[in-house]
Amino acid sequence: MEVWEKSVYKKDYERELQYAEDIIMKSLNRYVWEYPHVSTGNRYVPEKNELWTSSFFIGMCFLAYEHSGDSIFLTYEKEYLQSFEDRLIKKRHISHDLGFLYTLSCVADYKVTGNPEGKRIALMAAEMLAERYNEKGRYIQAWGEMGIPYPNVKIIIDTMLNLPLLYWTGEADKAAMAENHAETAARTLVRPDYTTYHTYLMDPATGKAVCGKTHQGHRDESVWARGQAWAVYGYALSYRYTGNPGFLKVAENAAEVFIGNMPENRVPYWDFDFTDENPDIRDTSAASIFVCGLLELCAHVPEEQADRYLCYAEATMKSLREQYSTRQIPGSDGLLTEGMYHRNDGAEECTIWGDYFYMEALMRLTRDWKMYW
Ligand code: GLY
Repeated sequence: MEVWEKSVYKKDYERELQYAEDIIMKSLNRYVWEYPHVSTGNRYVPEKNELWTSSFFIGMCFLAYEHSGDSIFLTYEKEYLQSFEDRLIKKRHISHDLGFLYTLSCVADYKVTGNPEGKRIALMAAEMLAERYNEKGRYIQAWGEMGIPYPNVKIIIDTMLNLPLLYWTGEADKAAMAENHAETAARTLVRPDYTTYHTYLMDPATGKAVCGKTHQGHRDESVWARGQAWAVYGYALSYRYTGNPGFLKVAENAAEVFIGNMPENRVPYWDFDFTDENPDIRDTSAASIFVCGLLELCAHVPEEQADRYLCYAEATMKSLREQYSTRQIPGSDGLLTEGMYHRNDGAEECTIWGDYFYMEALMRLTRDWKMYW
């Protein structure tokens, strides 16, 4: 039996999906050329298509369309594609995040509606992502121009969610780049105990890995909760595409680290340095990404293990809807409160990626959902 068929809170999930659609519907005309990112006072403002997050609202529109069958959610399909093609042509803010950006806009459009324009633009984006591959070091450079020297080059754990764009092309050279990057990250960003560094400094001239550093975590040697969630979901996805058993092992063990660091209510603090005994603020977006990772893992592990993951996923979803819903905040256009971008920039706010992954989790828990990744 598929894990979603065993899910026990289907009515609650359907209610949450309906709520998400109501929120999206209210915002549909507001986010056509500019998109939500992190809220201020639990309300988003439209931001130029220059951030790593510009595609998440569009991904939510495709989810809403798939769930409801209502084509109103596709009203701005053409505008979205044009906005994303413009960004590529003008090379505006190009980084490893091409994966997030073009998977949830153009690939999703192609997968959901069959629109060949979505496929064409996504393939252009994959080509540009492949240009960030360093042959010697077998990694994809996260940020900055290509060609900049040490010590300005990093790989980061978030890239694991950008790899599916390369795998999806079905082109052997791009799939090999993605797999090689995942292997390099497993040797560097993933520590021997399956906790993760947020970033790792690389020397692009020699390809040598230098040392682990944090960017959004509490300290270099701590575990940034969202980074650990990217590792769980990202390695599960890399396993789906490659069948490489090493990737499944990383995803499973990274999930155990996450489970072992869950507070009582199963919504993590932003860094695992913090606990119920030593609390700080939480990151609901890390929770929703982690749930998607667990649900993806369920497809690849024995039934008993999948049942255990489902239990954890459902407990986290219960906390999210009961304690962190924007239902209690009139005028909010987000779904989940208490997400975090940086500790000192966008904390205790709605985050559009947290909302997207929450909605993706709801889809995964209610039906046989075909992923956009
Ligand atoms: N990928 C950027 C972040 O997780 O904040």
